[in-house]
Amino acid sequence: MRKALVVGLALLAQGTLFAAMNTLTYSELTQKMRLFQESRLLLTAVELDVFTAVGSGATGREVAARLKTNPRATETLLNGLVAVGALNKRDGKFGNTEDTGRYLVEGSPECAREALMHTVHMWGAWGTLTEAVRTGTAVTRPGISGEDEQWTESFIAAMHRNAASGANALVRQVGAENVGRMLDVGGGSGAYSIAFAKANAALRAEVLDLGKVVGIAKKHIAEAGLSGRVVTRVGDLTKDEFGSDYDLVLLSAICHMLSPEENQSLFRRCARALVPGGRVVIRDFILEEDKSAPAPAALFAVHMLVNTPGGSTYSEEEYRSWLEGAGFREVKRLAPAGDLIVAWR
Ligand SMILES: C[S@@+](CC[C@H](N)C(=O)[O-])C[C@H]1O[C@@H](n2cnc3c(N)ncnc32)[C@H](O)[C@@H]1O
Repeated sequence: MRKALVVGLALLAQGTLFAAMNTLTYSELTQKMRLFQESRLLLTAVELDVFTAVGSGATGREVAARLKTNPRATETLLNGLVAVGALNKRDGKFGNTEDTGRYLVEGSPECAREALMHTVHMWGAWGTLTEAVRTGTAVTRPGISGEDEQWTESFIAAMHRNAASGANALVRQVGAENVGRMLDVGGGSGAYSIAFAKANAALRAEVLDLGKVVGIAKKHIAEAGLSGRVVTRVGDLTKDEFGSDYDLVLLSAICHMLSPEENQSLFRRCARALVPGGRVVIRDFILEEDKSAPAPAALFAVHMLVNTPGGSTYSEEEYRSWLEGAGFREVKRLAPAGDLIVAWR
C-alpha cells in the first residue's frame, strides 16, 4: 500500500500518472496527425466521382477526360488511391477494387455515394475546430437549416442508410405491440416509422420534420406502400407542442443536436404528448459518466461542437435526470452498453 503510494507520487511528479491508460506513443501520435492525407484523398475521390469514372478500367487520361479535370493532377490522385488500397493499377490502367466497384460506382445497386457525400461535407466544419474551441460554439452555419439542397439530400440519405439497416432491430427491442399512435420527432426519411408500421398493422405513425425533409420522407413512405398509416407533419422540434394521446414518441439521433436546456424543453413537450403509461424512446450515442468513452460517442460530441450551436453527446445520468425532471416516472437503459433509453410517463 505504502509502496503503491510512493510509486503513484513519483509518477505524478513526472506527469505520467495516467500512463496505464490506452495512450499513444509519439510515433503513433504523429502518424495519426497525418491521417487527414488519406481521408482527404478518399473524400476528393468520392466528391469528384472518380470511382464511376474509372468504371471497368481506364487510364489516367481517360479518367481526366471523363471528369473534365487536369490530367497530371488526376494521375497523381489515382496513384495515391492505388497506394492506399482504394484502386488497382495494371499496365498503366486503373481499376476499381471489389468494394469500390460495389459501393462507390454510380449505377451499382448498392452504391452509397449519395450518403457518403455527407461525410465529404463534414470536412468544412471539422476544419473550424480550432476556432470553435476558442469561441465555444460552431462557427459554420448549421447545414440542415441552410439553403443547400444537396447537403440536405446527402444528409438524409446517410441517415436513411443507417436507419434502414438498424430499424428492425430497434423495433424488436422496443416492441411495436400495444402502440396505436406514435410520433417520430425529427423522423428524417421515416425509416423507423415505416419499420414500426410494418411490425404492427394497427399502428399509425406521424413523422415530424423540417419542410424540406418531409418531402423525402413522403417518397420513402409511398415506396413502402404505407401512405395511409404513416403521415408527415412539418414542424420545429425545438419549440412546437406535439399534440396529445401518443403511445410512443421516438427521438432517434435528435438529442445530440440540442443543448441540455433544449433537451429538457423537448422532454417536457414529449411528456405532454404521451398518454399516461406512454413511452419516449431515445436512440443516441451515450457517454460513460466521465465523458471520455466510448470513443465514437466522445468524437461525436466534437462533431456536434463544430456543427451545432449547443449540441453534444450526453451520459445516461444526464438523460435520467432530465427525463425525471420532465415528469417521467421510470427511466431504463435497454442494454447496459446500448444506445437506447426508454422512459415511461
Ligand atoms: C440526425 S437526423 C435523424 C433522423 C432520424 N430520426 C434517424 O434517426 O434516422 C436529425 C433529424 O432532425 C431533423 N431536424 C433538425 N432540426 C429540426 C427542427 N428544428 N425541427 C424539426 N426537425 C429537425 C433533421 O431534418 C433530421 O431529419
